[in-house]
Amino acid sequence: MSLKLRLILIINAVLLLILVLGSILAIDMAKKNVRAEVASSEKLTLYLFEIGVLKNPKYYSIESEYKPLNLQTLVHMRHLKIEFYNLEGKLIESNISDTRTQTMDQAPPWFVNFMGLISDPWQPKRLPVEILGQPKGTIIITPDPSYEFGEIWNQLTGIFYLAGTFFILTNILVAWIVFRALSPVEFILQALTQLELGNLKVKMPDLKTPELSVISSKFNHMVKTLRLSVEQNHKLSQKLIRVQEEEKKSLARDLHDEFGQSLTAIHADAAVLKNLATKEYPKIKPSAHAISDLSKHLMNLVGGMLNQLKLGVLNELGLEEGLIDLIRSWKVRHPKIRLDYQVDLKGLPRITETLSITAYRIIQECLTNISRHAKAKHVDIKIQFVKKNVSSKMIDIHVQDDGVGFKKSHRDGFGLSGMRERIHEVNGSIKIKSEVHQGVSLDIQLPLKRIPK
Ligand SMILES: Nc1ncnc2c1ncn2[C@@H]1O[C@H](COP(=O)(O)OP(=O)(O)OP(=O)(O)O)[C@@H](O)[C@H]1O
Ligand SMILES: [Mg+2]
Repeated sequence: MSLKLRLILIINAVLLLILVLGSILAIDMAKKNVRAEVASSEKLTLYLFEIGVLKNPKYYSIESEYKPLNLQTLVHMRHLKIEFYNLEGKLIESNISDTRTQTMDQAPPWFVNFMGLISDPWQPKRLPVEILGQPKGTIIITPDPSYEFGEIWNQLTGIFYLAGTFFILTNILVAWIVFRALSPVEFILQALTQLELGNLKVKMPDLKTPELSVISSKFNHMVKTLRLSVEQNHKLSQKLIRVQEEEKKSLARDLHDEFGQSLTAIHADAAVLKNLATKEYPKIKPSAHAISDLSKHLMNLVGGMLNQLKLGVLNELGLEEGLIDLIRSWKVRHPKIRLDYQVDLKGLPRITETLSITAYRIIQECLTNISRHAKAKHVDIKIQFVKKNVSSKMIDIHVQDDGVGFKKSHRDGFGLSGMRERIHEVNGSIKIKSEVHQGVSLDIQLPLKRIPK
């Protein structure tokens, strides 16, 4: 649940609680008031009857008159139902009239029932009527709180309308304040998402709230530091790659100049020895042949190493042929893997040595990874020169295998991270797609830079 919604719900719950508690309190107070009012009316009525009717019997001739007590005159005694029953228990008269029921404020029946449930029961009062020592009947006074309930109902509905309006207005106000106060959170989230996607140029706007303004300036500072350290990291890695290439070149030079020269000399001497052995020293013939074969073998070995290290093949054959040579020799070493390849660099203009080495090393690393990790049965390689327009020319590389693949959470080793660095250095792009048991596919684009003449 979002923070905004949670805040609004909490505030609404508190408002609702206050409303419920307020209603309980109001109803409780009203209940007490009703009882006090009804009780006092009851007492007054009893008193009036005692002094007015019972102490002045001569005014009342119970037998003769139709409504001897004239209780209709007490129709306005709102809280009491006053009835006179004769000795046979027949209702002779009452103060309740149909008009009174209609005109008084009515509460809905459920409310009256509810109030009846939560109030203590009302007991009727009985007053025996005796005229000149003769019992004539009974006056029964029953408390009737329905009028009061009607009044309470009216008050409560008034309070509810007021509270409802307050409730709606508070909600609108709170929603507005919360939305305004939390709107900067959207900026923070957007900036963090951008950062997560690797955008190190992301910048958070200056937020107005002081606390959030500190967050935004700290965030911007953090991104700047991160960007600087990533740039430094790139520079270091690229320097490392350059140093490695230099090292390889110098190693290749030593191998070529020292080893290569010496082996050629040994091979030539072995040829002389072989000649001599055939003519004059047949006993040393096998040794002379062994030295010759061994030196030949070592020369081939050194030749292969030189190709790996110095990439002389690129100078000799050019990139297209160099790549084909690399792929073919890998294919020979892995006869069980079906390798389909297409290298088409026709029309490729003169490119920098760095770009050429980058393309070569990428394919070299892809092939090494496939033989080391993939357990693939089929490998597909496509290397093309793509010319979209005069200013957009690139080498497009696609390498795909059907091997074991890897999870998204895998960690790059030196191979893949070095590949990324080399691509970054030439402003290229790389997309690696892989799922476990679904192989790996790499799509790389190396844009061509104009070479200064
Ligand atoms: N074609 C592939 N098939 C399956 N897994 C691969 C493939 N290429 C790379 N991986 C996985 O990715 C990891 C990282 O590869 P990376 O080339 O960066 O390092 P490495 O080959 O382990 O070591 P090195 O630094 O010597 O290259 C590998 O350890 C391997 O688990
Ligand atoms: Mg590797």
